[in-house]
Amino acid sequence: MTHIVNPALDDYLLAHCSPAEDEVLRDLAAETQRAVPGTTMQISQDEGVFLAMLVGLTRARLVVEVGTFTGYSALCMARALPAEGRLIACDVSEEWTDIARRYWERAGVFERIDLRIAPAAETLRTLPAEETVDFAFIDADKSGYPVYYEELVARLRPGGLIALDNTLQGGRVVDPADHSEQVVAIREVNDAITADPRVESVLLPVRDGVTLVRKR
Ligand SMILES: C[S@@+](CC[C@H](N)C(=O)[O-])C[C@H]1O[C@@H](n2cnc3c(N)ncnc32)[C@H](O)[C@@H]1O
Repeated sequence: MTHIVNPALDDYLLAHCSPAEDEVLRDLAAETQRAVPGTTMQISQDEGVFLAMLVGLTRARLVVEVGTFTGYSALCMARALPAEGRLIACDVSEEWTDIARRYWERAGVFERIDLRIAPAAETLRTLPAEETVDFAFIDADKSGYPVYYEELVARLRPGGLIALDNTLQGGRVVDPADHSEQVVAIREVNDAITADPRVESVLLPVRDGVTLVRKR
């Protein structure tokens, strides 16, 4: 998690979302820090609540996640699905997703999650071309975002949502001197979404920037 909001407000923000993090999520966050010390890859507690709320609001039955890591965001979203709902989780790491599997099992959502270990662009291209996806969360390698967006928006049902994480890149999107691969890719996808007549969108200053895209 990158801080673009005043860090002094963080505790306050985290104290004012509900439900509070339960034991499973707390243990998962702690094990993730032991496995990958100092990592900022995992989404925050409030972002987990936000994603779960969006899954519920869209009455999603089919969710796709690009970038699963140790499974925190997938767990939050899977809990918000109905029992027959399904979440397709895309990642390239067996090592990190092995941690995820244990916590999904413990939380009782293992059966709802279909983990696909492969580059996400390949996995997305194997999904049916129909508009069946209700909700998608993109949180993987930033250079892949333009491709992930295109593959997902084509499969999103009208009224469905895509949330893209880290779309402010710690503020570097507005630094004209920053030509790094990931910032260039994020600017590209931000511009493509804004100009896309298939959707309406808003870039929210939640954590490191979360763009919400709704298909018309
Ligand atoms: C920021 S982390 C995801 C964090 C996760 N959403 C969470 O809440 O814990 C990014 C993940 O993307 C995965 N990744 C990187 N490149 C990828 C690719 N080409 N295809 C699929 N996953 C990829 C990494 O292995 C890593 O687990």
